[in-house]
Amino acid sequence: MTETRYLLEMNGITKEFPGVKALDGVTLKVRPGTVHALMGENGAGKSTLMKCLFGIYKPDGGEIVLDGQRVEINNSKDALSLGVSMIHQELYPVPHRNVMENLWLGRFPVKGFGPLKIVDEKKMREDTLALFRDLDMDIDPNALVGSMSVSKIQSLEIAKAVSFRSKVIVMDEPTSSLTGNEVEQLFKIINELRGRGVSIIYISHKMEEILRISDDVTIMRDGRLIGTWPAAELTTDLIISRMVGRDLKERFPERHNKPGDVLLKVEKLTSPFPKSFQDVSFELRQGEILGVGGLVGAQRTELIEALFGLRSVASGEISLRGRKVKIKTPTDAKKHKIALLTEERRVTGIFPVLSILENTMIANLDRYINPFFLLNERKGRAEVAGSVEKLRVKTPSIKELIKNLSGGNQ
Ligand SMILES: Nc1ncnc2c1ncn2[C@@H]1O[C@H](COP(=O)(O)OP(=O)(O)O)[C@@H](O)[C@H]1O
Ligand SMILES: [Mg+2]
Repeated sequence: MTETRYLLEMNGITKEFPGVKALDGVTLKVRPGTVHALMGENGAGKSTLMKCLFGIYKPDGGEIVLDGQRVEINNSKDALSLGVSMIHQELYPVPHRNVMENLWLGRFPVKGFGPLKIVDEKKMREDTLALFRDLDMDIDPNALVGSMSVSKIQSLEIAKAVSFRSKVIVMDEPTSSLTGNEVEQLFKIINELRGRGVSIIYISHKMEEILRISDDVTIMRDGRLIGTWPAAELTTDLIISRMVGRDLKERFPERHNKPGDVLLKVEKLTSPFPKSFQDVSFELRQGEILGVGGLVGAQRTELIEALFGLRSVASGEISLRGRKVKIKTPTDAKKHKIALLTEERRVTGIFPVLSILENTMIANLDRYINPFFLLNERKGRAEVAGSVEKLRVKTPSIKELIKNLSGGNQ
């Protein structure tokens, strides 16, 4: 017997994908009733480790011990029945169904005689209300999930995890799209769960959050374990230097750009919708980074999408290098050499089932069409390989499907 009893031990987990050793003998030990942060740069292997725990991937080597018992987790159903839940980075609820139906999907309570069974709506409603009351969540069991905010859907996912009597709940970047208040609400729920002896594995890049909410911190780099420390012994600088493997003199590179002439000028840009952006003016200079601040709902994305021709504009002017331009569609925007990296990468930014090469070429097809209207793939390959190298995209080949890259590399 060891002195400390761990609720979960992942010992020497190894996982290889063609051309990438995603996990190289990683060990993670989680104490009961703690928040355990899992940290590392993009591509370090955090999500892969958690997918091994949740039965989405089968590790090539190593063992998983839950509550002192060695377990086999072959799929997410196994994981759930062993008390392991995962709140994914991207949530996939069933939008056209209500809260109750999403919550109990696949395990509706039924009533009836013999083989004749129907869904017991009343019990389902009562169970749902009891669960929300228990967690102090304010959610309407009949609300359509498609009309709910990200934070509500996330609370719903957490309630679902609790309803499975989970002992370990994995949260992959849970606060990335929450407002300040919603983060506080989430932390309240996390504290409540921790008080009940549930262990939370928490993946995030936000240092302040990690230091505030977690008890232990495990740091990974390039598929390997760097170590586990009590959060109380760590600082932001220590975490970063252990994540990147060298001391960092400054967190952000020094700025020595000298913004030049005005490149883009936006004057009194106004959306046709009264609740969206109104009367927005700004100038963007050459070699300049312009931040657009505001709370969630402030219409920042809508403004930027209007500049890319994705949203209509009722009035106002856009000029490039002093000349007025009309941007009605993304094709117009691209003609003016404006590019947009979208907010929801997986939904609107990439074609997951195409390769890195295809994804990159498709953004700029005209460049690769030869005089016979055929695709000049050789030119594409050379240029894309150059970009991959310049941007240090971590991938075995430009033929790799883009969905297999870690989030940041996509
Ligand atoms: N299904 C997959 N096929 C091929 N490579 C993958 C797959 N999933 C992850 N990888 C690779 O494994 C490495 C670790 O990725 P990931 O676990 O997503 O990192 P993190 O979550 O820490 O950002 C990356 O190099 C990534 O490209
Ligand atoms: Mg990840």
